[in-house]
Amino acid sequence: MLTKKRVLVGVTGGIAAYKAAELVSSLRESGATVNVVLTEAAREFVQPLTFKALSGNQVYTGLFGGLDPVPHISAAKESDLVVVYPATANFIGHAANGLAPDLLTTLVLAFKGPVVICPSMNARMFANVAVQHNLARLQDYGYVIVPPESGRLACGEVGQGRLPAPGAVLEVIRGALVPKDLKGLNFLVTAGPTREPLDPVRYISNRSSGKMGYALARAARDRGAQVVLISGPTSLAKPAGVSYSGVKTALEMREAVLENFDAADVVIMCAAVSDYRAKTPSPKKVKKEVREMVLEFVQNPDILEELGRLKRHQLLIGFAAEDDNILEHARRKLEAKNLDMVVANLIAQEGAGFEADTNIVKILFRNGRFLELPRMDKYEVAQRLMDMVLDMRRI
Ligand code: C5P
Repeated sequence: MLTKKRVLVGVTGGIAAYKAAELVSSLRESGATVNVVLTEAAREFVQPLTFKALSGNQVYTGLFGGLDPVPHISAAKESDLVVVYPATANFIGHAANGLAPDLLTTLVLAFKGPVVICPSMNARMFANVAVQHNLARLQDYGYVIVPPESGRLACGEVGQGRLPAPGAVLEVIRGALVPKDLKGLNFLVTAGPTREPLDPVRYISNRSSGKMGYALARAARDRGAQVVLISGPTSLAKPAGVSYSGVKTALEMREAVLENFDAADVVIMCAAVSDYRAKTPSPKKVKKEVREMVLEFVQNPDILEELGRLKRHQLLIGFAAEDDNILEHARRKLEAKNLDMVVANLIAQEGAGFEADTNIVKILFRNGRFLELPRMDKYEVAQRLMDMVLDMRRI
């Protein structure tokens, strides 16, 4: 995922410094080469040895005294991204004012690539107007700020100041490293299942988790696109930086999709829309005294098919989850719904489809070309699909 990427992790002296060990470990697991800078205060909380072991590299601790006479320049040249995790008010103040009293601040000044800053401190410190001003200034300069979370802080108080977990920051890092080659494009992505009510407490639905659709929304966002995500009910966190619309039924999804269709350049219908809904849902909870019952269903509108008829400039991409004859079904869908691309996968395959974190997909294009991707993380699949979208836009 981050193979061949060189990430420099700067750790400053906050209590949350211990979390940096896990970030370094996750970065390495993702394939990145990791170097670590510990400030003097950070070394009061964590030891260089931990970071040396986890990164597999020497740890930088100061401007002077090492073998390299200009460690700040070498480290800045050799990195693709710098992340400061955690970033203290002191570091933020120096960076915002172009001050460079130690290795990390000097290196950040000398670095040309993306810098991700993760503030973490007492909630009153974080809310302090000077700190907020400094952060606003850094944001203005193009630094990526990951805001702290609210919760119980090390000092016992409750408020905004907690360092986000390494996983969340890893996602920001991945996003900051991808090219912004979809800038200027509007994406409309649907995700998740729909729920069709039977009575006020029951519904029919399907096993879609929304993971693939959310990954698509995040991948498009990371590449600079404006994204509208229309999602059925899922347990996933709303992706940041995406315009989100939550719906329940297929009819609600249709309405939201049609509302956003005109403005879209690329439409990806990843949602598992329920094909049927109850003809007349009971307005009251059905009692269990009924021994047998027959439910009557009517067909839901096929949203994608409707878009295929309405489409003008849009690229239209559909998904197809199939039991068998995957390519044949996908080809039929592509034609019937007037699509530009179909992404198909087998339902009952290990490491693919509903609920899984990975997917194995076959992709079919309008011109008859088809290709298959090996099993990979859904976000990686999404990134590969973005490459294809870009290629199709160029034709
Ligand atoms: O025909 P089938 O339902 O298998 O096609 C799947 C594709 O059509 C998916 O892209 C899905 O989002 C979309 N779809 C839709 N409206 C429906 C059913 C499916 O837009 N009612």
